[in-house]
Amino acid sequence: MRALLCKQFAPLDQLSVEQIDTPQATPGHVVIAVKAASLNFPDALMCQGLYQVKPPLPFVPGAEFAGVVYEVGEGVTHVKVGDRVIAQTGTGGFGEYALAPAMRVAPLPRPMSFADGAAFVMTYGTSFHALKDVAALQAGETILILGASGGVGTAAIQLAKLMGANVIAAASSDEKLALCKSLGADHLVNYSQENWRDTVNSIVGKKGVDVVYDAVGGAYSETALRSLGWRGRYLVVGFAAGDIPKIPLNLALLKERKILGVYWGDAVANNPKQHMANMHQLATWFGEGKLPIAITERVSLDGTVDALKRLSTRQAMGKIVVEI
Ligand SMILES: NC(=O)c1ccc[n+]([C@@H]2O[C@H](COP(=O)([O-])OP(=O)(O)OC[C@H]3O[C@@H](n4cnc5c(N)ncnc54)[C@H](OP(=O)(O)O)[C@@H]3O)[C@@H](O)[C@H]2O)c1
Repeated sequence: MRALLCKQFAPLDQLSVEQIDTPQATPGHVVIAVKAASLNFPDALMCQGLYQVKPPLPFVPGAEFAGVVYEVGEGVTHVKVGDRVIAQTGTGGFGEYALAPAMRVAPLPRPMSFADGAAFVMTYGTSFHALKDVAALQAGETILILGASGGVGTAAIQLAKLMGANVIAAASSDEKLALCKSLGADHLVNYSQENWRDTVNSIVGKKGVDVVYDAVGGAYSETALRSLGWRGRYLVVGFAAGDIPKIPLNLALLKERKILGVYWGDAVANNPKQHMANMHQLATWFGEGKLPIAITERVSLDGTVDALKRLSTRQAMGKIVVEI
């Protein structure tokens, strides 16, 4: 089969599509004929050895995908050959076939296309967990979303609107902000402009922001934290800008602000019931047409390396899907 192969932790240029052995189902595992896989920021980090998880080399990247069950191993009962499924395996999605532990495979909800299924779980799962379980976002509150045009950011805009919040979307270009607007953002802030904090202040006034959703880090974080009002909550989601900010803790003492970590993968493992309830709610909203997934590009397996490069150099928006 053909697959994108990471043979060493190195710049993304070193990745190549190669012919490798098709996986075979082992006990408790499923082989899936992959139809679509989506790009997530951690895919690019992992191939460069910059992610907290370092898979044994060589490996096929691609954390989440959708396809058709091709073979089931001994002991697998909840899916069968021919079923349409989605899977989150951390790696393996950018190839024609992927081996997945059965517990990481779920039926593709009826109305979803393979592309939607591949682009759904990680971004919406992360953002819903962050907004509902960690921040307890309330209707009428104001949320400032950094990196709002990216994968988790676009999901956060849609979910915050469904939860009744007033959404300030922050991104680095007018084109990215136009996407945020189309997804329902109430206010737009271009944080590539030096005075962006003034723009936020002009929107929220003295009351400040109630919740910040930060998937970017770097120099934006401290400014965003300062924009929080009394008992505002700051969600630490990711560091797409590369730098992990060092924050003066007096900013938490002042106004009794709360800095809250978000780690969706561990939250799923620690509280699977909550995760299942969240996914049920998300699938219901999707079925009602309330979560239009912001798929902005569809590429072939051969286009995956360039797409990963665009993602990691700030040239992508929404979700990129690899169709196989
Ligand atoms: N905590 C969790 O459980 C969890 C789960 C999933 C993802 N994450 C993390 O969340 C972050 C975003 O993931 P994603 O898949 O949504 O990524 P994405 O689609 O690439 O979005 C990242 C956004 O960050 C902004 N950005 C700022 N500086 C950047 C830079 N130097 N390079 C690339 N992007 C930059 C970009 O928007 P602008 O150009 O507008 O700034 C971009 O839209 C990542 O750090 C990822 O690891 C965390």
